[in-house]
Amino acid sequence: METAPVFTLICFVVLVFSHLELSEEADVLGVEGSISDGETLISSLETFELGFFSPGKSRNRYLGIWYKNSPGAVVWVANGNNPIAERKGVLTLSETGNLVLFNQTNSVIWSSNVSGTVQDPVARLLDTGNLVLKDNKSMPESYLWQSFDHPSDTLLPGMKIGWNLKTGEERYLTSWKSADDPSPGNLTYRLDKNGLPQLFIDRGSVKIYRTGPWNGIGFGAVPAVQSLVFKPIVISNENEVYHTYEAASEAITMRLWLNQSGYVQRLILNQRSSWDVLYSAPFDKCGSYGSCGVNSICSSRRADACECIKGFISKSQESKNCVRESSLDCQKGEGFTRLVGVKVPDLLKFQLNESLNPTRCEAECLKDCSCTAYANMNVSEGRTGCLMWFGDLFDITEVADMYRGEDVFVRLSASGLGLTNESKKKNRVAIILVSIISSAIVLGLISFIIWKKSKKRDVVLHSTRMEGEEDEREVPLFAFSTIEIATKYFSFGNVIGEGGFGPVYKGNLPTGQEIAVKRLSKDSCQGVEQFRNEVVLIAKLQHRNLVGLLGCCIQGDERMLIYEFMPNKSLDYFIFDHKSRALLSWKNRVDIVLGIARGLLYLHQDSKLQIIHRDLKASNILLDSNLIPKISDFGLARIFGGNDEETKTTRVVGTFGYMAPEYANDGTFSAKSDVFSFGVLLLEIISGKKNKGYNHPDHQHNLLGHAWLLWNEDRGLEVMDRILEETCVRSEVLRFIHVGLLCVQECPEDRPPMSSVLLKLTNEEATLPQPKRPGFFIQREPFNNFSAIKMDTAFTGKELTISMLQGR
Ligand SMILES: *[C@@H]1O[C@H](CO)[C@@H](O)[C@H](O)[C@H]1NC(C)=O
Ligand SMILES: *[C@@H]1O[C@H](CO)[C@@H](O)[C@H](O)[C@H]1NC(C)=O
Ligand SMILES: *[C@@H]1O[C@H](CO)[C@@H](O)[C@H](O)[C@H]1NC(C)=O
Ligand SMILES: *[C@@H]1O[C@H](CO)[C@@H](O)[C@H](O)[C@H]1NC(C)=O
Ligand SMILES: *[C@@H]1O[C@H](CO)[C@@H](O)[C@H](O)[C@H]1NC(C)=O
Ligand SMILES: *[C@@H]1O[C@H](CO)[C@@H](O)[C@H](O)[C@H]1NC(C)=O
Ligand SMILES: *[C@@H]1O[C@H](CO)[C@@H](O)[C@H](O)[C@H]1NC(C)=O
Repeated sequence: METAPVFTLICFVVLVFSHLELSEEADVLGVEGSISDGETLISSLETFELGFFSPGKSRNRYLGIWYKNSPGAVVWVANGNNPIAERKGVLTLSETGNLVLFNQTNSVIWSSNVSGTVQDPVARLLDTGNLVLKDNKSMPESYLWQSFDHPSDTLLPGMKIGWNLKTGEERYLTSWKSADDPSPGNLTYRLDKNGLPQLFIDRGSVKIYRTGPWNGIGFGAVPAVQSLVFKPIVISNENEVYHTYEAASEAITMRLWLNQSGYVQRLILNQRSSWDVLYSAPFDKCGSYGSCGVNSICSSRRADACECIKGFISKSQESKNCVRESSLDCQKGEGFTRLVGVKVPDLLKFQLNESLNPTRCEAECLKDCSCTAYANMNVSEGRTGCLMWFGDLFDITEVADMYRGEDVFVRLSASGLGLTNESKKKNRVAIILVSIISSAIVLGLISFIIWKKSKKRDVVLHSTRMEGEEDEREVPLFAFSTIEIATKYFSFGNVIGEGGFGPVYKGNLPTGQEIAVKRLSKDSCQGVEQFRNEVVLIAKLQHRNLVGLLGCCIQGDERMLIYEFMPNKSLDYFIFDHKSRALLSWKNRVDIVLGIARGLLYLHQDSKLQIIHRDLKASNILLDSNLIPKISDFGLARIFGGNDEETKTTRVVGTFGYMAPEYANDGTFSAKSDVFSFGVLLLEIISGKKNKGYNHPDHQHNLLGHAWLLWNEDRGLEVMDRILEETCVRSEVLRFIHVGLLCVQECPEDRPPMSSVLLKLTNEEATLPQPKRPGFFIQREPFNNFSAIKMDTAFTGKELTISMLQGR
């Protein structure tokens, strides 16, 4: 899994712009000038190069444009359909002002085909990757011809795909046939301009992928990375409707590529001149167009991805399509069921009315007997429209928070709404039955185990009794059906968190007990035995400051951990919220910090396992009803095959803002990496500010840098959240900040171990060394935006995706 390279973006050093000694306008082709195979044009900042190349294993020659320092990345091809057999091609600028490509027998292979003659033609390769043809006397921006108007398989910043409404002409990307053959394949990436613009990947005339509609800021159901790495743009006026984008900074080299297997990849050039995939679409099994039938929702979180919309039932075993339980009759009492955060149905039969406000939208849909659903959509920044669907609903998918989803309201008949109550009753009977049966099975299992154990126990007990009762604890195995029912079949509405290892659902057991279910992403590739062994080990970790593990659940390749449910939210909800933060006094915060330190110390030292957490952060600290902090998500690294000594890992799990530099850079982690995260957390608890995305008007440093600078100027107290002024003990605040700064020092060796951290926090007499500079003490320009990246490798399973949580 390619995770580490993305981090390099953050430390990305500004591209070298020093190669400016221009070799006599290498980017220009004058009239009657020519380029033969072997010669090239190079754009003025040496970003792009134009010349002849042979793709992959092919020996054919093509005229194309590629990145000068990444020649494999060809962004445009002139003669894809018409290769030249030998290295004898020549590109010339004719007297009439046309670019013409000849083969050795002087046959025209390709031409820019501009009609009319030009006085003083010149062709220039721009630093945007655009090859332009213009009259040397005319305005600089007025081109007679430009390669950007004839896209191949790559969309560069500033390039457009879409429609010229005056001429009816459409521009779109076309894939290569194969890596060896740049002739147009049968995949296209195009903008559908009907209603609200949507992007499609088509194979021939068959849709294979769709984004959600444009909402003024971005396309629906794609990662919300926009604006911080790049800005998607849609322009719609009487002349044209098109989509383009720009990179957030000139120092970012990015391209969007429609590859030959039907994916669009958004790629960023790293400093090793290779390309990191920012994301690629379709994202998962729900990404392919209409992967479920009509009137159903696809969810990649469910093992069985497709589910009928509420009020609809499966037509038959074989069909994926769903039909209404009871048909619409346009009588009183009809209403809507809400689908939260989805990719809205495709715009097949629909109506968009921008003059209807949200409340009128519902009424309007009810009034029209054929309206089957509606949504209040943002259609451009600040404007909403009422989108109504007629007929069957198609290609709806659940999307995670980090993607942009919308709420859709699906119409149900009065009896449909009522029926679902009745079917609930039926369900309840089923639930009771199922739970009776499953508890019988569990009971049977447990007694079987006890029976088996009791034979061994005589022997075992003698040797283990010394270590206390806890070692004899069995880990309950929950039946999959119990968990399914408890979480309402892993309903999207029950999701309460999304961590590096998979989503967390809230559930209610038939006994009334509330549970939190961590559904592990499937790449743990552990066998059942191994998984259970790990769970038994984790379950043995019992500490007042750790969330209790109740059991696990195994079904096929599904692995789940069942935890006690914490009704109070996580720490981030308290310390970063402008209202809730007032609820935590200085005393509360001290107790929370010490609780976390004790929990972490237990994981590092006191437990026999030596667990390194690897993803310690505010949202992983839960508070119980007495505000006692409980660390969650510990021990998961073991399940995912990490060893807990200092080691290197290919899977970087963690959250930027909390990750220690050595872990983020090289994937090397140790207990000291957790100490770093603890230090960040400590400074966040005191300051009430997030390290990630921290901004200060006077400088570019993150929270750590800011605190360190103040500390060195003897202004440490200014780090503290002002709201604590009345309740705080100044000497304590200073000591806590001091310890926090010691924890976040750049070198792991300088950071104190947790045992010493706890001592330093509680001992007023302790003498503390001066903190050295913190990790990531770098000027963040122009990459400060990247400080807000959270990696979530779990959600899509295979692809690395990045979500920008916040930033400027
Ligand atoms: C374009 O015009 C400028 C002056 O107007 C001249 O210096 C330059 O050589 C011309 N370029 C070509 C390629 O003709
Ligand atoms: C040059 O191109 C023409 C037209 O495509 C073709 O008929 C001819 O065989 C080519 N010459 C060589 C030497 O490939
Ligand atoms: C050039 O343009 C003419 C009309 O403007 C068109 O008929 C012809 O097919 C074009 N040729 C190429 C090679 O695109
Ligand atoms: C698209 O092209 C691929 C390979 O070139 C071929 O296997 C496939 O059948 C084509 N599909 C359609 C719909 O034309
Ligand atoms: C296209 O992109 C997908 C998703 O990133 C990747 O799995 C596939 O290997 C790529 N195909 C090619 C030909 O690069
Ligand atoms: C939008 O709704 C209003 C009010 O119902 C109606 O007058 C108008 O004709 C509708 N516009 C379109 C384009 O349907
Ligand atoms: C619509 O736009 C408003 C403000 O422009 C924003 O607050 C809201 O979250 C947007 N809604 C969606 C679903 O994007």
